[in-house]
Amino acid sequence: MRIDYFRILKLKGLTTTVVLFSCFTMLTFSAHAQLDSTKITVESGKKIFEASCATCHSSCPDEVITGPSLFGVADRWSEAGLSRELLRLWVQNPNAAKASGEKYINTLWTEWVDRRAAGVMTAQAVSDEDVESILAYLDTKPCKPKAEGGGCPPQVLPEEEESVSLWMYITLFLLLVLIFGAAGVRRQLKYANLKKEGIHYDEMPSYMDELKMLIGNNRKLFSVIVLLLVAFGAKDIWYTLKDVGVYGGHDYNTGLNYRPEQPIDFSHKIHAGCNEIECVYCHSSAEKGKHAEIPSSNVCMNCHKHIKKGKRENSEQEIQKIYDAVGFNADTKTYGEEGEPIKWVKVHNLPDHVYFNHSQHVVVAGIECQECHGPVEEMDVVEQVAPLTMGWCINCHNETEVAYKENGYYKEMHKRFTKDDLRKFLEDKKITAREMGGWECAKCHY
Ligand code: HEC
Ligand code: HEC
Ligand code: HEC
Ligand code: HEC
Ligand code: HEC
Ligand code: HEC
Repeated sequence: MRIDYFRILKLKGLTTTVVLFSCFTMLTFSAHAQLDSTKITVESGKKIFEASCATCHSSCPDEVITGPSLFGVADRWSEAGLSRELLRLWVQNPNAAKASGEKYINTLWTEWVDRRAAGVMTAQAVSDEDVESILAYLDTKPCKPKAEGGGCPPQVLPEEEESVSLWMYITLFLLLVLIFGAAGVRRQLKYANLKKEGIHYDEMPSYMDELKMLIGNNRKLFSVIVLLLVAFGAKDIWYTLKDVGVYGGHDYNTGLNYRPEQPIDFSHKIHAGCNEIECVYCHSSAEKGKHAEIPSSNVCMNCHKHIKKGKRENSEQEIQKIYDAVGFNADTKTYGEEGEPIKWVKVHNLPDHVYFNHSQHVVVAGIECQECHGPVEEMDVVEQVAPLTMGWCINCHNETEVAYKENGYYKEMHKRFTKDDLRKFLEDKKITAREMGGWECAKCHY
């Protein structure tokens, strides 16, 4: 419907216009009481959300971190009949908002504070405009689509598997005891009856003979049971051998597929995969120097000060190990005396006489971590996927062109090349790492 303001103006004169105009301004003012709309932007909302809220809240539907997902949160509050002011107050001071006694907030409390023990949300130092910006950002439904296969379903833990099969064995054992017990009583009765009927045996047939008879009469059933037992047994043996490193996998000469047990059940899949944390967030020295280094517990605490548990069952006790190492009390959120540092087991080991430098490969050559370490972001437990032999190094140096075109360092080198050098290098229209000295013994050997 279109309103012909021009006609209204003409018909009713100036007074109508003035009344209409002031109504309009009053409406806009009351809707955004004391809000400075110039300070409300999706971009600043994104920044504040990522810096202050994302450690505890996901923006994806139903995804729980410490607190509930904030996907569609504004709708939830308005559907519950709560005002926007109260929602803003909640973010700034949850306790004050709870004092309103609203049913929705009480339910939130029962669910998160009482039942899930997530703790009361910490009051956030944000202005009204900041909260509006966050809500505007959330309105854009910023949840990133997960990788194919629906992202990261909760994993099945080896512990669970073990306890399942343990229970299976216990049940099986009890069942056998029962069967034999019952069979024993029945047997006694049977032979007692036979005796009564005047039939005499010198000796009762042994359990073994009875079992043979039983099996003979129920061949099919027993072959199925035996097959099942063999299959389960073989699976367990297979996994045990794999863990110890006997089966194929881990080759003691090259270290290939070596995946030692770590002091904390730390999963790259959960961190670098599902939560898309950059490799260099934790391994920052890979870009700076020789070693990629394992992050210190303080790096873990950047996030785990807030994140006390994950989705897997053992997550709480595993994260507790970080707290123990840094002496953090998760209930009082205070630091006390530090414990033993976490002793990670090194997976990749080059001999001492070899020189290898990460930043040379990662920064100068621009090689992705995955080219040498495989799809780490898909691994629950890191394993060595490259042989780390001399052949492996020099093969790649022979095949890989150096990225000299985009690289200032090589522009500089290029200038210094003699014509002969250049002809030699460019014969095959490419410059490989080998031609840059990547096959010289002294480059790799101390
Ligand atoms: C330390 C963790 C933590 C941080 C940081 C945090 N929250 Fe929360 N938030 C929670 C928890 C836990 C709840 C559930 C209620 C409770 O336990 O107090 C919650 C609840 C909420 C709710 C209600 C959700 C619903 O489903 O109705 C909103 C809205 C909210 N938080 C917004 C924010 C915003 C916006 C920020 C950032 C400025 C933020 N929170 C930062 C932990 C946190
Ligand atoms: C949240 C921190 C974190 C992130 C993100 C992370 N890592 Fe790690 N990384 C660790 C920790 C802790 C260890 C030691 C425990 C282990 O081996 O699992 C480790 C070990 C490794 C190892 C084995 C090191 C050795 O002992 O030889 C490799 C290789 C590795 N990470 C590569 C990567 C790559 C590639 C990425 C990105 C895809 C990545 N990491 C992302 C924390 C992280
Ligand atoms: C050109 C191959 C190559 C690339 C690319 C590479 N690495 Fe490595 N990485 C190695 C080798 C070889 C070792 C073993 C070094 C040693 O034992 O001295 C290693 C060891 C590690 C270690 C164990 C700690 C250490 O430094 O010895 C971590 C962690 C690691 N790499 C992470 C990364 C990350 C993260 C990236 C990407 C940013 C990356 N690597 C890129 C080859 C590579
Ligand atoms: C940038 C943030 C961040 C850093 C840094 C970080 N984590 Fe985490 N971590 C998370 C998140 C988010 C989860 C919850 C994942 C989930 O279950 O969805 C998590 C979960 C975990 C879990 C439980 C996993 C599960 O669900 O079973 C462990 C254990 C853990 N982290 C250990 C570590 C260790 C050890 C470090 C340091 C080397 C570390 N984390 C560093 C964000 C981080
Ligand atoms: C995935 C391919 C690849 C693998 C695997 C690889 N390198 Fe390299 N490496 C390169 C490239 C490309 C360069 C050239 C970097 C540059 O200077 O632009 C290079 C450069 C080097 C240099 C510097 C050479 C010079 O001229 O200064 C050394 C030393 C080196 N690598 C050692 C190693 C060692 C040791 C290994 C095995 C443990 C190894 N590299 C494995 C690709 C690789
Ligand atoms: C690109 C890097 C690289 C270059 C260039 C290189 N090596 Fe190696 N070399 C290695 C690595 C890595 C190993 C360790 C392999 C292992 O442990 O299996 C190694 C191992 C060796 C060993 C075996 C030592 C042992 O413990 O078995 C000898 C000998 C050796 N190199 C000699 C040389 C000589 C001679 C040259 C020059 C012609 C040379 N290397 C050039 C990387 C290199």
